[in-house]
Amino acid sequence: MGLELNLAGKTAIVTGGSAGIGFAIAKALYREGVSVAIAARNPERLEQAAQAIRELPNQGNQVLAISADLSQAEGVDTVVSKTLATFGQIDIFNNAGSAQAGTFLELEDQTFVDAWNLKLLGYIRLVKAVIPDQIQRRDGRIVNIIGGAGRTPRSSFLPGGTTNAALLNFTRGIAKELAQHNIRINAISPGATATERGDRLAEQNAQIRGVSVAEIKAETVKSIPLGKVAQPEEIANLALFLVSDLAASITGAEILVDGGTTPGV
Ligand SMILES: NC(=O)c1ccc[n+]([C@@H]2O[C@H](COP(=O)([O-])OP(=O)(O)OC[C@H]3O[C@@H](n4cnc5c(N)ncnc54)[C@H](OP(=O)(O)O)[C@@H]3O)[C@@H](O)[C@H]2O)c1
Repeated sequence: MGLELNLAGKTAIVTGGSAGIGFAIAKALYREGVSVAIAARNPERLEQAAQAIRELPNQGNQVLAISADLSQAEGVDTVVSKTLATFGQIDIFNNAGSAQAGTFLELEDQTFVDAWNLKLLGYIRLVKAVIPDQIQRRDGRIVNIIGGAGRTPRSSFLPGGTTNAALLNFTRGIAKELAQHNIRINAISPGATATERGDRLAEQNAQIRGVSVAEIKAETVKSIPLGKVAQPEEIANLALFLVSDLAASITGAEILVDGGTTPGV
Protein backbone atom coordinates (compact mmCIF):
# COMPACT_ATOMS: atom_id res chain seq x y z
CA MET A 1 0.00 0.00 0.00
CA GLY A 2 1.23 3.56 -0.78
CA LEU A 3 1.37 6.50 1.59
CA GLU A 4 -2.07 7.42 2.92
CA LEU A 5 -2.58 11.19 2.98
CA ASN A 6 -6.10 10.95 4.50
CA LEU A 7 -7.07 14.43 3.38
CA ALA A 8 -10.61 13.59 2.17
CA GLY A 9 -13.28 15.79 3.77
CA LYS A 10 -10.89 18.64 4.53
CA THR A 11 -11.27 22.12 3.06
CA ALA A 12 -8.64 24.54 1.78
CA ILE A 13 -8.08 28.00 0.37
CA VAL A 14 -5.43 28.19 -2.33
CA THR A 15 -4.54 31.77 -3.19
CA GLY A 16 -3.36 32.27 -6.75
CA GLY A 17 -5.18 29.02 -7.51
CA SER A 18 -6.00 29.85 -11.13
CA ALA A 19 -2.50 29.33 -12.56
CA GLY A 20 0.93 27.82 -12.05
CA ILE A 21 1.83 26.37 -8.66
CA GLY A 22 -1.50 27.33 -7.01
CA PHE A 23 -3.51 25.63 -9.76
CA ALA A 24 -1.39 22.49 -9.40
CA ILE A 25 -1.92 22.50 -5.60
CA ALA A 26 -5.68 22.99 -6.01
CA LYS A 27 -5.92 20.09 -8.49
CA ALA A 28 -3.86 17.80 -6.29
CA LEU A 29 -5.96 18.59 -3.20
CA TYR A 30 -9.20 18.07 -5.10
CA ARG A 31 -8.09 14.64 -6.34
CA GLU A 32 -7.53 13.73 -2.66
CA GLY A 33 -11.14 14.61 -1.77
CA VAL A 34 -10.48 18.11 -0.39
CA SER A 35 -13.02 20.90 -1.06
CA VAL A 36 -11.02 23.78 -2.48
CA ALA A 37 -11.58 27.54 -2.70
CA ILE A 38 -9.33 29.12 -5.32
CA ALA A 39 -8.75 32.87 -5.22
CA ALA A 40 -7.28 35.19 -7.86
CA ARG A 41 -8.21 38.43 -9.62
CA ASN A 42 -9.12 37.57 -13.22
CA PRO A 43 -12.64 36.06 -13.00
CA GLU A 44 -12.61 34.37 -16.43
CA ARG A 45 -9.32 32.57 -15.86
CA LEU A 46 -10.48 31.66 -12.34
CA GLU A 47 -13.73 30.14 -13.63
CA GLN A 48 -11.84 28.19 -16.32
CA ALA A 49 -9.50 26.81 -13.66
CA ALA A 50 -12.45 25.91 -11.38
CA GLN A 51 -14.14 24.10 -14.27
CA ALA A 52 -10.97 22.16 -15.10
CA ILE A 53 -10.68 21.11 -11.44
CA ARG A 54 -14.35 20.01 -11.27
CA GLU A 55 -13.72 17.64 -14.18
CA LEU A 56 -11.10 15.69 -12.17
CA PRO A 57 -11.98 12.49 -10.31
CA ASN A 58 -13.46 13.47 -6.92
CA GLN A 59 -15.30 12.19 -3.87
CA GLY A 60 -18.23 14.61 -3.97
CA ASN A 61 -15.97 17.46 -2.78
CA GLN A 62 -16.52 20.97 -4.10
CA VAL A 63 -14.66 23.82 -5.81
CA LEU A 64 -15.35 27.47 -5.03
CA ALA A 65 -13.91 30.26 -7.21
CA ILE A 66 -13.51 33.63 -5.48
CA SER A 67 -12.35 36.65 -7.46
CA ALA A 68 -10.42 39.00 -5.14
CA ASP A 69 -7.33 41.17 -5.07
CA LEU A 70 -5.23 39.72 -2.24
CA SER A 71 -3.00 42.75 -2.04
CA GLN A 72 -5.93 44.47 -0.30
CA ALA A 73 -7.21 43.68 3.22
CA GLU A 74 -10.82 43.60 1.89
CA GLY A 75 -9.83 40.98 -0.69
CA VAL A 76 -8.51 38.69 2.05
CA ASP A 77 -11.69 39.24 4.13
CA THR A 78 -13.89 38.34 1.13
CA VAL A 79 -12.01 35.10 0.48
CA VAL A 80 -12.13 34.00 4.12
CA SER A 81 -15.77 34.91 4.75
CA LYS A 82 -17.02 33.28 1.51
CA THR A 83 -15.04 30.12 2.15
CA LEU A 84 -16.14 29.85 5.78
CA ALA A 85 -19.79 30.44 4.75
CA THR A 86 -19.58 27.66 2.13
CA PHE A 87 -17.25 25.07 3.66
CA GLY A 88 -17.42 25.87 7.40
CA GLN A 89 -13.67 25.45 8.04
CA ILE A 90 -10.34 26.15 6.35
CA ASP A 91 -6.74 25.03 5.95
CA ILE A 92 -4.67 27.31 3.71
CA PHE A 93 -2.09 27.53 0.98
CA ASN A 94 -0.63 30.99 0.63
CA ASN A 95 0.75 31.21 -2.86
CA ALA A 96 -0.33 34.38 -4.72
CA GLY A 97 2.72 36.49 -5.53
CA SER A 98 3.99 38.42 -8.54
CA ALA A 99 7.07 40.51 -7.65
CA GLN A 100 8.89 42.02 -10.62
CA ALA A 101 12.54 41.62 -11.48
CA GLY A 102 14.42 44.85 -12.26
CA THR A 103 17.67 46.79 -11.87
CA PHE A 104 17.73 48.33 -8.38
CA LEU A 105 18.36 51.93 -9.47
CA GLU A 106 15.50 51.74 -11.95
CA LEU A 107 12.93 50.27 -9.56
CA GLU A 108 10.23 52.61 -8.25
CA ASP A 109 9.30 52.46 -4.55
CA GLN A 110 5.90 51.29 -5.72
CA THR A 111 7.35 48.06 -7.14
CA PHE A 112 8.55 47.15 -3.63
CA VAL A 113 5.29 48.26 -2.03
CA ASP A 114 3.23 46.19 -4.51
CA ALA A 115 5.31 43.07 -3.82
CA TRP A 116 5.08 43.52 -0.04
CA ASN A 117 1.34 44.27 -0.12
CA LEU A 118 0.43 41.21 -2.15
CA LYS A 119 2.74 38.54 -0.86
CA LEU A 120 4.01 39.64 2.57
CA LEU A 121 0.93 41.37 3.95
CA GLY A 122 -1.40 39.17 1.87
CA TYR A 123 0.00 35.97 3.46
CA ILE A 124 0.10 37.48 6.96
CA ARG A 125 -3.47 38.78 6.72
CA LEU A 126 -4.78 35.44 5.53
CA VAL A 127 -3.08 33.56 8.36
CA LYS A 128 -4.49 36.05 10.87
CA ALA A 129 -7.98 35.70 9.40
CA VAL A 130 -8.14 31.89 9.45
CA ILE A 131 -6.48 31.02 12.74
CA PRO A 132 -9.38 31.90 15.08
CA ASP A 133 -11.40 29.09 13.47
CA GLN A 134 -8.38 26.75 13.55
CA ILE A 135 -7.72 27.53 17.21
CA GLN A 136 -11.32 26.63 18.02
CA ARG A 137 -11.02 23.32 16.13
CA ARG A 138 -7.53 22.67 17.56
CA ASP A 139 -6.41 21.78 14.05
CA GLY A 140 -4.77 23.86 11.35
CA ARG A 141 -2.34 23.26 8.51
CA ILE A 142 -0.83 26.19 6.65
CA VAL A 143 1.68 26.16 3.79
CA ASN A 144 3.37 29.34 2.58
CA ILE A 145 4.89 29.14 -0.91
CA ILE A 146 7.90 31.42 -0.52
CA GLY A 147 10.95 31.15 -2.82
CA GLY A 148 14.71 30.72 -2.80
CA ALA A 149 15.43 34.46 -3.15
CA GLY A 150 14.49 34.85 0.53
CA ARG A 151 17.75 33.24 1.65
CA THR A 152 19.80 33.69 -1.51
CA PRO A 153 19.14 37.27 -2.60
CA ARG A 154 19.80 38.56 -6.11
CA SER A 155 20.34 42.23 -6.96
CA SER A 156 17.88 41.96 -9.86
CA PHE A 157 15.07 40.55 -7.69
CA LEU A 158 15.01 42.65 -4.52
CA PRO A 159 11.24 43.27 -4.26
CA GLY A 160 10.70 39.48 -4.35
CA GLY A 161 13.75 38.65 -2.24
CA THR A 162 12.89 41.08 0.57
CA THR A 163 9.31 39.78 0.58
CA ASN A 164 10.47 36.18 0.80
CA ALA A 165 13.02 36.86 3.55
CA ALA A 166 10.34 38.55 5.65
CA LEU A 167 7.93 35.67 5.04
CA LEU A 168 10.50 33.14 6.25
CA ASN A 169 10.89 35.19 9.40
CA PHE A 170 7.10 35.29 9.80
CA THR A 171 6.64 31.54 9.16
CA ARG A 172 9.30 30.59 11.70
CA GLY A 173 8.34 33.35 14.12
CA ILE A 174 4.66 32.41 14.39
CA ALA A 175 5.14 28.61 14.34
CA LYS A 176 5.73 28.22 18.09
CA GLU A 177 2.70 30.27 19.06
CA LEU A 178 0.47 28.35 16.67
CA ALA A 179 1.88 24.97 17.77
CA GLN A 180 0.19 25.26 21.17
CA HIS A 181 -3.14 25.17 19.28
CA ASN A 182 -2.10 22.21 17.11
CA ILE A 183 -1.70 24.46 14.07
CA ARG A 184 1.28 23.69 11.82
CA ILE A 185 2.74 26.26 9.45
CA ASN A 186 5.49 25.45 6.96
CA ALA A 187 7.17 26.98 3.94
CA ILE A 188 8.06 25.58 0.57
CA SER A 189 10.66 27.54 -1.36
CA PRO A 190 10.62 26.66 -5.02
CA GLY A 191 13.53 27.40 -7.28
CA ALA A 192 12.85 28.02 -10.98
CA THR A 193 9.47 26.42 -11.71
CA ALA A 194 7.76 26.03 -15.08
CA THR A 195 4.85 28.48 -14.79
CA GLU A 196 3.68 31.67 -16.54
CA ARG A 197 5.44 33.61 -13.83
CA GLY A 198 8.66 31.69 -14.48
CA ASP A 199 8.37 32.78 -18.14
CA ARG A 200 7.66 36.39 -17.14
CA LEU A 201 10.73 36.51 -14.88
CA ALA A 202 12.87 35.07 -17.68
CA GLU A 203 11.60 37.84 -20.00
CA GLN A 204 12.31 40.53 -17.38
CA ASN A 205 15.82 39.17 -16.74
CA ALA A 206 16.51 38.99 -20.48
CA GLN A 207 15.58 42.65 -20.76
CA ILE A 208 17.77 43.66 -17.80
CA ARG A 209 20.76 41.77 -19.18
CA GLY A 210 20.16 42.59 -22.87
CA VAL A 211 20.21 38.92 -23.91
CA SER A 212 17.56 36.59 -25.34
CA VAL A 213 14.94 34.77 -23.25
CA ALA A 214 16.31 31.48 -24.61
CA GLU A 215 19.76 32.37 -23.24
CA ILE A 216 18.34 33.18 -19.80
CA LYS A 217 16.41 29.90 -19.75
CA ALA A 218 19.50 27.92 -20.80
CA GLU A 219 21.56 29.64 -18.08
CA THR A 220 18.91 28.83 -15.50
CA VAL A 221 18.89 25.15 -16.36
CA LYS A 222 22.69 25.10 -16.34
CA SER A 223 22.73 26.59 -12.82
CA ILE A 224 20.54 23.79 -11.43
CA PRO A 225 22.60 20.76 -10.38
CA LEU A 226 19.73 18.37 -11.24
CA GLY A 227 19.63 20.03 -14.67
CA LYS A 228 15.90 20.87 -14.91
CA VAL A 229 13.38 23.42 -13.72
CA ALA A 230 10.74 22.03 -11.35
CA GLN A 231 7.21 21.29 -12.52
CA PRO A 232 4.36 22.88 -10.47
CA GLU A 233 3.10 19.36 -9.66
CA GLU A 234 6.33 18.67 -7.74
CA ILE A 235 5.59 21.62 -5.44
CA ALA A 236 2.00 20.40 -5.09
CA ASN A 237 3.10 16.90 -4.04
CA LEU A 238 5.19 18.32 -1.22
CA ALA A 239 2.39 20.69 -0.19
CA LEU A 240 0.01 17.73 0.15
CA PHE A 241 2.51 15.85 2.28
CA LEU A 242 3.03 18.87 4.55
CA VAL A 243 -0.68 19.32 5.29
CA SER A 244 -1.24 15.59 5.86
CA ASP A 245 -0.83 13.76 9.17
CA LEU A 246 2.31 12.17 7.71
CA ALA A 247 3.97 15.49 8.59
CA ALA A 248 2.36 15.71 12.04
CA SER A 249 5.61 16.76 13.76
CA ILE A 250 6.79 19.22 11.11
CA THR A 251 6.22 22.91 11.76
CA GLY A 252 8.21 26.11 11.22
CA ALA A 253 10.18 24.36 8.48
CA GLU A 254 11.26 25.59 5.06
CA ILE A 255 11.78 22.97 2.38
CA LEU A 256 13.62 23.90 -0.81
CA VAL A 257 12.55 22.45 -4.15
CA ASP A 258 15.30 23.86 -6.34
CA GLY A 259 17.17 20.91 -7.80
CA GLY A 260 20.10 21.49 -5.43
CA THR A 261 20.77 25.09 -6.57
CA THR A 262 21.26 26.61 -3.11
CA PRO A 263 22.83 24.08 -0.74
CA GLY A 264 23.21 26.47 2.25
CA VAL A 265 23.52 25.07 5.78
N1 LIG B 1 7.54 30.10 -10.80
C1 LIG B 1 8.69 30.21 -10.15
O1 LIG B 1 9.78 30.01 -10.75
C2 LIG B 1 8.70 30.53 -8.67
C3 LIG B 1 9.92 30.43 -7.98
C4 LIG B 1 9.95 30.75 -6.62
C5 LIG B 1 8.80 31.15 -5.96
N2 LIG B 1 7.61 31.22 -6.65
C6 LIG B 1 6.44 31.68 -5.91
O2 LIG B 1 5.36 30.78 -6.10
C7 LIG B 1 4.13 31.49 -6.08
C8 LIG B 1 3.31 31.14 -7.30
O3 LIG B 1 4.06 31.46 -8.46
P1 LIG B 1 3.61 30.96 -9.92
O4 LIG B 1 4.86 30.85 -10.70
O5 LIG B 1 2.69 29.80 -9.84
O6 LIG B 1 2.79 32.28 -10.42
P2 LIG B 1 1.76 32.48 -11.66
O7 LIG B 1 1.85 31.36 -12.63
O8 LIG B 1 2.01 33.88 -12.16
O9 LIG B 1 0.34 32.47 -10.93
C9 LIG B 1 0.07 33.45 -9.98
C10 LIG B 1 -1.34 33.30 -9.44
O10 LIG B 1 -1.55 34.33 -8.46
C11 LIG B 1 -2.69 35.12 -8.84
N3 LIG B 1 -2.47 36.50 -8.42
C12 LIG B 1 -1.50 37.37 -8.82
N4 LIG B 1 -1.69 38.57 -8.26
C13 LIG B 1 -2.79 38.48 -7.46
C14 LIG B 1 -3.50 39.38 -6.64
N5 LIG B 1 -3.13 40.68 -6.51
N6 LIG B 1 -4.59 38.95 -5.97
C15 LIG B 1 -5.00 37.66 -6.10
N7 LIG B 1 -4.38 36.75 -6.88
C16 LIG B 1 -3.29 37.16 -7.55
C17 LIG B 1 -2.77 34.96 -10.36
O11 LIG B 1 -4.08 35.22 -10.88
P3 LIG B 1 -4.56 36.72 -11.32
O12 LIG B 1 -3.42 37.30 -12.10
O13 LIG B 1 -5.81 36.49 -12.12
O14 LIG B 1 -4.86 37.46 -10.06
C18 LIG B 1 -2.42 33.48 -10.49
O15 LIG B 1 -3.53 32.67 -10.16
C19 LIG B 1 4.48 32.99 -5.98
O16 LIG B 1 4.38 33.41 -4.64
C20 LIG B 1 5.93 33.02 -6.45
O17 LIG B 1 6.66 34.09 -5.88
C21 LIG B 1 7.54 30.92 -7.99
